[in-house]
This record gives sequence, structure tokens and C-alpha cells, in this order.
Amino acid sequence: MSASPRHVAIIMDGNGRWAKKRFLPRMAGHKKGVETAKQVAYAALDLGVEVLTLYAFSTENWARPDEEVSGLMGLLKIFIQRDVRELSERGVRLKVIGNWRALAPDLVVLIEDALTQTAGNTASTLVIALNYGSQAEITASVRRLAEQVKAGALEPDAITADHIAQGLETADLPPLDLLIRTSGEVRLSNFLLWQAAYAEMLFVETLWPDFGKAELAAALDGFGERERRYGGL
Ligand code: IPE
Ligand code: IPE
Ligand code: MG
Repeated sequence: MSASPRHVAIIMDGNGRWAKKRFLPRMAGHKKGVETAKQVAYAALDLGVEVLTLYAFSTENWARPDEEVSGLMGLLKIFIQRDVRELSERGVRLKVIGNWRALAPDLVVLIEDALTQTAGNTASTLVIALNYGSQAEITASVRRLAEQVKAGALEPDAITADHIAQGLETADLPPLDLLIRTSGEVRLSNFLLWQAAYAEMLFVETLWPDFGKAELAAALDGFGERERRYGGL
């Protein structure tokens, strides 16, 4: 019997190129991308994925033109308000990782509400990485350990990889099994660097707005055929 991944993460890339190919503004690609995110979240639920983590906005994405950043924030608002409510009716719990508390106050309130509303759901977990950067996440974990050392509560020699992992925002989630990136780019772009240590990777050419249930199902099948050795034989 082939194994299925419990935790799948996706770097949703290629919205801009999808729009460009159609001579549309980049925002049209992002709009379609949000639709895809919703469909893929339902597909993951149907296919038995326990945790789906979606990279929605990186700490580096602030470098984009103001107009695109505010457009993306607007779409996020709609996603949290409308789509998360619908997903919640199917038992999906929302979790948000990244420095989302630094976003606009109205968006922060919407996220807090959505987190509260979905907290008791148990069918699956949808994790949205929002204003997320893996290096910042690891740095924060290490800083907390340094504070414990400074306070005399922890010996430097006693620090293990597990201490660092426990300080990450993903500490309560199953280990990352499968990491997918769309649009043909083959890099992690500061996403789940620590968590990906033994994740299987899948890079597909499909632009995110064209991704769908069939491709997710194929990715899960492909995962089942891989042999994970974790350094052993
Ligand atoms: C991914 O699509 C969405 C976000 C980063 C928010 P892009 O906007 O990066 O699309 P490309 O890479 O320009 O095609
Ligand atoms: C990664 O995509 C971030 C998200 C998908 C949210 P980018 O398009 O921002 O990554 P780079 O700039 O190509 O590395
Ligand atoms: Mg991109």
C-alpha cells in the first residue's frame, strides 16, 4: 500500500505569468489564483490530506508595487471572509503562520475572527502563510532559546534541533511530507526551510491558476511511489 502525505504545502506561483499570457492585468491572475486556492483546499479535503499549507504572501512580497500589494491584501480579505466561512462549513480549521499581526488592523480582526470561528473544526487544517518568511521564523525561535539561556534556564549544550522545531509556528502540525511549487521555478523562496528537511519536493510547470484537483491527486499518487529513506538504507 502506498503512503499518503499528511501534510502538503504549496508555493502558489505563476499568477502574474498566467495573466500576462492572456494580455490581462496581473490582478486578474491573482483573482483566478484565489479561486484555485479555494478549489485546491476542497480537493485536499476530499483526497484526505490532513494539513494543507499555502504560501499566500511572503515577507519579500512587500517589494512589489503598492498597487499590487494592496490588491493582494484586498483579495485576502475576501478569501478570509467568504471562502474560509464556506470551508468552515465542511469542517476545515484555519491556521495562519507568518507575521500576520503586522498587517492592516481590519485584516487582523478578520483573521482573528476566522481563527476563532474555525478553531473547533476537525476535518482538516488549512494553513495560510501570510507575511511569512522562514528565516524570520527560525530566527524568532532561536532568539527565544537565547533568552532562556540568558535567564539561566537552559544550557547551550542542551539545545537540540527539537528545541528549535518546537519554537516554530508549525510545531503543532504533522511533519511536512510533500512540498509543491507551481510555475516552473525551482527554489524555496524562504518557505518552510527547516520543515522541508525531509519533505519530498515536486516542481511542476503548471501556472497556479491552472492547477487543480487532478494535478493534486497526481501529486499525491506520485508521493506514494517515492521511497523516503531519511538517511538510512
Ligand atoms: C504568486 O504569483 C502569487 C504571489 C506571490 C502572491 P506571482 O505573482 O509571483 O506570479 P508570477 O511569478 O509573477 O508569474
Ligand atoms: C513565492 O513566490 C511567494 C508566494 C508564492 C507567496 P514569489 O513569486 O514571490 O517568489 P520569487 O520572487 O519568484 O522567488
Ligand atoms: Mg512569482
